[in-house]
Amino acid sequence: MATVRIPEQGRTLRSKDEVTTFLDSIGIEYQTWTPEHPTTTDASQEAILDAYRKEIDALKARGGYVTADVINVTDQTPGLDAMLAKFSREHSHDEDEVRFILDGHGVFHVHPQNGPVAAIEVEAGDLIRVPRGTWHWFDLCADRRIRAIRLFQDPAGWTPVYTNSAAETRFEPVCFGPAFVR
Ligand SMILES: [Fe+2]
Repeated sequence: MATVRIPEQGRTLRSKDEVTTFLDSIGIEYQTWTPEHPTTTDASQEAILDAYRKEIDALKARGGYVTADVINVTDQTPGLDAMLAKFSREHSHDEDEVRFILDGHGVFHVHPQNGPVAAIEVEAGDLIRVPRGTWHWFDLCADRRIRAIRLFQDPAGWTPVYTNSAAETRFEPVCFGPAFVR
């Protein structure tokens, strides 16, 4: 279950209704998925995509996504810091960023053009859709671990377009869930 913080207002949202309604108000789609046949966290990409086939197909049909894959990142991933640095500065994409979290934690900061920045901390079971053009940035939590299903309209569209606003420097990239370590 995702947690949403709005640092500039000192607000934290924790209930599913509050989180879903608030995220919808800033254009972010949020769902929780429970697979018909749960998979283990070390299951193959094929087994995971199969377990969530119904949900993936429904999203594909609605959003025009053509491919789905599974990204697996751990503290041991070569080049992890360079990879993270690409996405921890405020940017947008020419296509939606759709992630279903299978394991680990991360925090998406979303910067609406007419509202305060929201920090969305995600964990296993959370689906988030950040529409194309939305200003955002992403950090891992202290466990430096994330495994997630990604959906693409066109993988080439996923290149970050930086805003160069430095908005991310005004917010601590910290997580407040179980993975939080000061
Ligand atoms: Fe992104």
